[in-house]
Amino acid sequence: MSSMPSHQRQLIQTGDDIRRMFSRLAGRYDLFNRLFTLGMDAVWRRAVARQVPVGSRVLDIGTGSGQLAKVVALRARVVFGVDFSFDMLQKAVGNTPGQGGPGFLQGRADVLPFRSGRFDVLVSAFVLRSLHRAGVLEESLRECHRVLEAGGHLVFMDAVTPAHRFFRFLFESCLCRFIGAVGWLVFGRRWPGRYLADTMREFFPARDLAGLLERNGFCNIRIKAMSGGAICLIMADKG
Ligand SMILES: C[S@@+](CC[C@H](N)C(=O)[O-])C[C@H]1O[C@@H](n2cnc3c(N)ncnc32)[C@H](O)[C@@H]1O
Repeated sequence: MSSMPSHQRQLIQTGDDIRRMFSRLAGRYDLFNRLFTLGMDAVWRRAVARQVPVGSRVLDIGTGSGQLAKVVALRARVVFGVDFSFDMLQKAVGNTPGQGGPGFLQGRADVLPFRSGRFDVLVSAFVLRSLHRAGVLEESLRECHRVLEAGGHLVFMDAVTPAHRFFRFLFESCLCRFIGAVGWLVFGRRWPGRYLADTMREFFPARDLAGLLERNGFCNIRIKAMSGGAICLIMADKG
């Protein structure tokens, strides 16, 4: 499998490392997603969007190139996307309609640049692992709780290591190699090696994630596995 030497991998650890990494990947990020998921990334984002009540005010955290914000905007009244990578946000602006489309702001998930109670729904796709890696997941969940209106919802989606032995075997033996090969093909030397696979491995099992959400003021937590358990949809309400 194609990978960076371990001493280089260790460097992608702080929020700044992660921001720089995504900024380097921004130009070809959408192409990579389409190829390595064989187009399923759009299906998974639509699964998130379906949970968003029509007419709501939505914040997409770690919006990246704006693909989730774009789908959510088809049903929401107001959509903002926040991301700490300026290069990603430039892609997002290019990917979405200027008028009536989502608004984008640069900012950190653990210090959200919005007043308390500003949103009915918070969404995110493929971001929790990076927050966990940077050690800001809990602070970010507290911020999510703050910017949500009372009774608001969160709908997060991310890639995780499948819990089922067979699918985990498939992931470890085939999928990791496939992702590495596509990564090198699309990004060349900018490809950050095993970041994606490693953050999937080190992420919380569902029950621990539910505990973390509960500790940070969320209730009615539902976690749904999709695509053989490699994708996890996390839904909760502000308690
Ligand atoms: C894997 S991309 C996902 C992008 C997008 N949500 C999607 O569906 O493709 C993760 C994004 O989260 C952003 N991100 C990671 N950690 C962040 C943080 N602490 N604050 C704000 N954005 C963050 C990155 O810059 C990147 O654009």
